[in-house]
Amino acid sequence: MKKSVEDLEVAGKRVLVRCDFNVPQDEDGNITDDRRIREALKTIKYLLEHKARVILCSHLGRPKGEVNPKYSLKPVAKRLSELLNMEVKMADDVIGESAHSLASSLQDGEAMLIENVRYDAREEKNDPEFSKELASLAELYVNDAFGTAHRAHSSTAGVADYLPSAVGYLIKKEIDVMGKALENPERPFVAILGGKKVSDKISVIENLIDKVDSLIIGGGMSYTFFKAQGKEVGTSICELDKVELAKELLAKAAEKGVKLVLPVDNVVVQEFSNDAASKVVSSNEIPEGWQGVDVGPKTIELYREVLKDAKTVVWNGPVGVFEFDNFAKGTNEVAKILSELDGATTIIGGGDSAAAIEKGGYSDKMTHISTGGGASLEFLEGKILPGIDCIQDA
Ligand code: 3PG
Repeated sequence: MKKSVEDLEVAGKRVLVRCDFNVPQDEDGNITDDRRIREALKTIKYLLEHKARVILCSHLGRPKGEVNPKYSLKPVAKRLSELLNMEVKMADDVIGESAHSLASSLQDGEAMLIENVRYDAREEKNDPEFSKELASLAELYVNDAFGTAHRAHSSTAGVADYLPSAVGYLIKKEIDVMGKALENPERPFVAILGGKKVSDKISVIENLIDKVDSLIIGGGMSYTFFKAQGKEVGTSICELDKVELAKELLAKAAEKGVKLVLPVDNVVVQEFSNDAASKVVSSNEIPEGWQGVDVGPKTIELYREVLKDAKTVVWNGPVGVFEFDNFAKGTNEVAKILSELDGATTIIGGGDSAAAIEKGGYSDKMTHISTGGGASLEFLEGKILPGIDCIQDA
């Protein structure tokens, strides 16, 4: 068990809080989805109410170690100020003159945000000097950036070498909910894994095969599994060098008595575009020159059947080309089916699955929507996340 923010004596102390404020913005810099900011509020409010001096930090995008206004956290400071109903002061730099002078003049119950930590190339190298400089802003460190907990960077890990540390409420919630599903799930436990490539999901499939009752595999990676079953896949995305592995995974699932559910029908097209003419074919009959872009209606019914008695569901990755509206139906239907489940714990990995849930207006019906894409995947793979590992034990 890691120390939590409640285990620290924070009154009157400068507390460096690492959040994941890596939020999407439109071309004019308007934040288009502020969920990660809202999810960070519980820890920030706790600290403010307990008279801490809160120094927030985060990355935004990948500015590659250079100062670039496109990746400034200023819009985040503005949004935070609105949500907290108080001013969150914005520093002009990461650990320069501005950050230091704001930090030293901060009063109890006040908050500030330093600039994008990735403006400094040493951040992603987890450079000890940079970690030390960050630490020098504060007296305590709280990591609440679940979305970045899989990165061993200065602000997510290195800084904990120099300050007493704890995890915030968001990290705690993420690891409690997902940890329980992995260690002690209510059964039947069904995982739905989608996405383009088998290679991105090998470790998570391997880890989950040991834990689930059924494993639904959809999306681009289905076609590598089809190939492993000797089916023709036309021009569908297929990783030939992973076919043997897919065979092994099919055999492992059979040996363990895990039901591995692949699509039985598919929406196929000849051209990879949203407006391409499409048709539905069975998985045994993908014609030459055609490629799969979504699951078909029979597969959606099959999903409904497999999921109907589930008590724990973990979903990570779209089951079709979700970025094309015309081929997002399968993914949207999965979201809908989950929203209709009665009494099941439903856990949604970040990225497209979370987007489908939000688009359908089903967010309130889910038990948990992770704020981490890559991080939740690594957690489900059973990996130790450096941003959590670095924190002191309780
Ligand atoms: C994310 O959006 O997945 C996290 O903020 C991590 O971002 P990164 O992939 O640039 O490290």
